[in-house]
Amino acid sequence: PTGLLADALGRPLHDLRISVTDRCNFRCVYCMPKEVFDKDYAYLPHASLLSFEEITRVASLFVAHGVEKLRLTGGEPLLRKNLERLVGMLSALRTPGGKALDITLTTNGSLLAKKAQSLKDAGLNRVTVSLDALDDATFKRMNDVDFAVADVLAGIDAAHAAGLGPIKVNMVVKAGMNDQEIVPMARHFKGSPYILRFIEYMDVGASNGWNLAEVIPSAEVARRISAEMPLLPLQANYNGETAARWRYADGGGEIGLISSVTQAFCKDCSRARLSTEGKLFTCLFATRGHDLRALLRDGRSDAEISAAIGALWQVRADRYSETRTMNTSGKERPEKRVEMSYIGG
Ligand code: GTP
Ligand code: 5AD
Ligand code: SF4
Ligand code: SF4
Repeated sequence: PTGLLADALGRPLHDLRISVTDRCNFRCVYCMPKEVFDKDYAYLPHASLLSFEEITRVASLFVAHGVEKLRLTGGEPLLRKNLERLVGMLSALRTPGGKALDITLTTNGSLLAKKAQSLKDAGLNRVTVSLDALDDATFKRMNDVDFAVADVLAGIDAAHAAGLGPIKVNMVVKAGMNDQEIVPMARHFKGSPYILRFIEYMDVGASNGWNLAEVIPSAEVARRISAEMPLLPLQANYNGETAARWRYADGGGEIGLISSVTQAFCKDCSRARLSTEGKLFTCLFATRGHDLRALLRDGRSDAEISAAIGALWQVRADRYSETRTMNTSGKERPEKRVEMSYIGG
């Protein structure tokens, strides 16, 4: 029903990231620290979650507005029961031009060995798997639940075997925790079918105690890797891509550097986020979302909800990473900023 949208800074709407649960079986120190996400933490009750039908309806309205890529996130999305059914429903959607969507999923890999084939059969195109170290002791310090590296690697291989590629592997780098794993990770994935991406530790949410001193700038990551394995720059795959791409000079494949802190990529940011309970967030660092679930459960028509989405995108002026200051840590930190596990990263 609508033409192509642009926000207040001229940015199109291209990606929708859908969080399907705020729960996770890991307690990564930079995302769901145990002290905050303990057994008394109040997760969303089931009735608050958007149903698969509601998610699909909202997604179809975003697709009519120009979205071509859907990414399922969490928490850990594979903890949502019957996720394959949602994937099947989403994969039936088509762009106004009749094209299939790019349907992807970001996971910690813990349940991937078991689920890769059924996800592929349901219509999932690709997965991105988080892995923060190759060394078990370091990885366990990061995930804080004793999960073994070998099990994540098995999940990645199962996803590859099922045809869920090209698979990306995300490593969040936290200084003094896992930065000694940068070069071993690069060495391990060099020449493999997997694209390793290094992510600067970000000040998302309000509970991870973020501190600029714990960020290793991507330039330093590149320096450490290229000292042993020389790198050359590559063109972006698309406008507004999160990662800057580099390839090994000897033909050993590519890596990505995601530098939200030192080289913000807001200029072309075309990502909208739908929270687990149906709020639309126009930035990862937003402090509030817009309640689409209220419209859905209030019996509003597709045309009305679509118009609301369009109006929200048109006034969007978010560019948090470009304007963040060094004092986002400590006292100046907005208490209300939503958690990564809630908004889906
Ligand atoms: P592809 O390009 O399709 O592989 O996806 P992606 O890089 O958008 O998704 P992924 O879930 O792998 O995200 C990688 C990292 O970039 C995560 O740490 C995200 O939180 C972060 N990220 C993704 N989108 C944004 C964004 O719009 N802003 C910021 N600041 N970080 C983002
Ligand atoms: N900074 C950077 N990346 C983060 N992720 C989770 N929390 C943070 C953070 N504070 C990553 C996850 C996953 C992706 C979706 O976001 O490890 O790979
Ligand atoms: Fe879970 Fe991913 Fe957050 Fe780790 S980063 S706690 S795996 S949602
Ligand atoms: Fe987009 Fe906000 Fe991230 Fe900038 S900080 S890239 S506007 S989500």
